[in-house]
Amino acid sequence: MSSEVPRQISMVAFMQAQNCSNYVGSWRHPATMNDFMEPEYYQRIARTLEDGLFDMAFFDDRLAMPDIYGADHRETVAHGIRAVKLDPTPVLMAMAAVTRKLGLGATCSTTYYEPFHVARLFATLDLMTKGRVAWNVVTSLNDSEAENFGRDAHEEHDLRYDRADEFLEVVMGHWDSWEDGALILDKQGDRFADPQKVHRLDHAGRFYKSRGPFTVPRSRQGNPVILQAGQSGRGMAFAARWAELVFAAYPNLEIGKKQYAHLKGAAEAAGRDPASVKIAPAVKVFVAESEALAREKYEYAGSMGKPIDALALLCEVLNVDFSSRPYEQPFSDEELAAVSWHSLRDQVIRVSGKKNPSVRDFVECSGRGTIKEGPAFIGTPTQVADQMQEWFESCCDGFVLQATSMPGTYEEFVRLVVPELQRRGLYRKAYPGETLRDTLGLERPAARDWRRYS
Ligand SMILES: Cc1cc2nc3c(=O)[nH]c(=O)nc-3n(C[C@H](O)[C@H](O)[C@H](O)COP(=O)(O)O)c2cc1C
Repeated sequence: MSSEVPRQISMVAFMQAQNCSNYVGSWRHPATMNDFMEPEYYQRIARTLEDGLFDMAFFDDRLAMPDIYGADHRETVAHGIRAVKLDPTPVLMAMAAVTRKLGLGATCSTTYYEPFHVARLFATLDLMTKGRVAWNVVTSLNDSEAENFGRDAHEEHDLRYDRADEFLEVVMGHWDSWEDGALILDKQGDRFADPQKVHRLDHAGRFYKSRGPFTVPRSRQGNPVILQAGQSGRGMAFAARWAELVFAAYPNLEIGKKQYAHLKGAAEAAGRDPASVKIAPAVKVFVAESEALAREKYEYAGSMGKPIDALALLCEVLNVDFSSRPYEQPFSDEELAAVSWHSLRDQVIRVSGKKNPSVRDFVECSGRGTIKEGPAFIGTPTQVADQMQEWFESCCDGFVLQATSMPGTYEEFVRLVVPELQRRGLYRKAYPGETLRDTLGLERPAARDWRRYS
């Protein structure tokens, strides 16, 4: 008999250190709590997630307020369209203080920070949480972010990924600097650590120079887990090389199956074990004692969204100002080539069936900023578990749960859906170990392991 643990669903909570969840209408929901500037808000959710044996709470990040629409922040501030954005890394530590096993992930941009800084920040977080940290690698999206960091414009899409590749080489290189067992701690012999086991990186490449030696030894899980979310061709190539957990946006099951097969194949082609790259699409869940009640919850949450949310958030990620553009005017090929988020653009082209979509097509086919953005599993605990099971068995390794009221979405999921998944053997009944890698079923990497598949 095989002693292998059966494949089980990984659950990630999609968190934002801001005034709403990634669904802007959530802040208008009467059941949402308003203390998002207090540690207790995040700690309350952390306890719920650990109680529900979630793999991880994961925070997105942006380095500017959404203010591309109308080239102004007025609407964004007035309507609370992600107008508050705290740095997610200190928030992780607030959550770490009240949990023991929950994984903690934060987004950090390769376009606006230095690799040495990011390597040290995340390595320190990983030590302070005893090996529970993940870094979501993003390349950022728009000119507002560039202007906050002393630049005039955001870099072109593929160039950002080229930079990100080298960024990862530097970060991983620093994380390799201290071999396991480098620390001796012999007080009487005055031997703190073995200099033969601590190395300088001496990196000098196309975008970065960084010398070392790095000042943070390896953690219990070796180094932080790498997450990634880009879905264009270039984004997938990057994920295939580096990502251990990919945060995906599947519009539906059929497209999900294709993307899942594509990414697993790309990871294999890059020399990696496809099982070591997990894929988790974002989903919303509306669960209740009856299907009718669950549908009512969905409709109600949907009614919290406003048209301005969609416009502001689309302009933010495409890096294009829609405000004075006729609603039905098709974008030219040149305009489409220049948008920042290629995979979102391609999804709108695919779903609308138009080579040159208009603002209306972007609003209607992306669903961005509305309750229709991405799939929603709606129904009783049994119905929701049925849908999750179907996806898990055909196109994913887990899910990133998007909240529509905070902390209600997470509480309801843990109370109603988790027991049903456990009953089916699809979900753990206890954390298997100590670190995030233990929880995700990922091996602890040896120093320099990543060089095998680069
Ligand atoms: C599900 C998902 C979540 C993302 N989260 C963030 C984020 O928190 N911060 C950010 O700057 N970009 C985020 N992005 C943008 C990606 O990092 C990337 O810049 C963008 O998708 C463009 O790359 P692509 O064309 O390869 O998809 C996200 C993308 C996806 C699909």
